[in-house]
Amino acid sequence: MDGNGRWASQRGEPRTFGHRAGVRAARRVLRCAHKHRVEYLTVFAFSQENWRRPAQEVSLLMQLFIRTLARETTALHRNGVRLRFIGDHSEFSDVLRREMDRAVEVTRHNAELKLNVAVGYGGQWDIVQSAQRLAARGEEITAEAIENGLDTHGLPAPDLLIRTGGEKRISNFLLWQLAYTELYFCDTLWPDFDDRDFSAALSWYATRQRRFGRVPESA
Ligand code: IPE
Ligand code: MG
Repeated sequence: MDGNGRWASQRGEPRTFGHRAGVRAARRVLRCAHKHRVEYLTVFAFSQENWRRPAQEVSLLMQLFIRTLARETTALHRNGVRLRFIGDHSEFSDVLRREMDRAVEVTRHNAELKLNVAVGYGGQWDIVQSAQRLAARGEEITAEAIENGLDTHGLPAPDLLIRTGGEKRISNFLLWQLAYTELYFCDTLWPDFDDRDFSAALSWYATRQRRFGRVPESA
């Protein structure tokens, strides 16, 4: 969900103004994904590298997470959304961790749409933590074993990645899991990302021929 800061700067506002608009965009996209019967939606809300941002911005983002969770959990639950968080949350405040636990607990029996929020997440961290656990147990390191230990265990590999904001990079998102994902990059800044952008990404995805290393069926 990239482009909040630039969106705010274009309006002569502080970056935090963009992050607030970003929450509204996330709500909109979630509704849209639901409408399109997307089963799994994983959003990258805060990377491990984002800790390096100015303390004031980090603190605002944390407040925004807490407030959004406190405010939205009931509505998410009503809409059948099941929440899960991936990432290293050891640096988060107790208040935030409690809100996250509560949201997971409240929504844990829902099955309409699985919303995974990556916070304090890093793709490299995910692979390392999985491998370290195997090593500590003296288990053999295989692709399957690493995969089973990822924070995303139990989730299917993503079919489609959408990166907004014009950058064409993965920025340490789901590195392992994206091996065969279709990558969609668009210039729309996250706060402006709407139903039309989402539909455009899905239409593009529908034109992709997925081969997973094989040759086309007709060949
Ligand atoms: C949102 O966009 C991503 C978050 C970490 C919440 P940015 O804050 O990266 O916005 P830009 O890239 O500076 O425009
Ligand atoms: Mg950015």
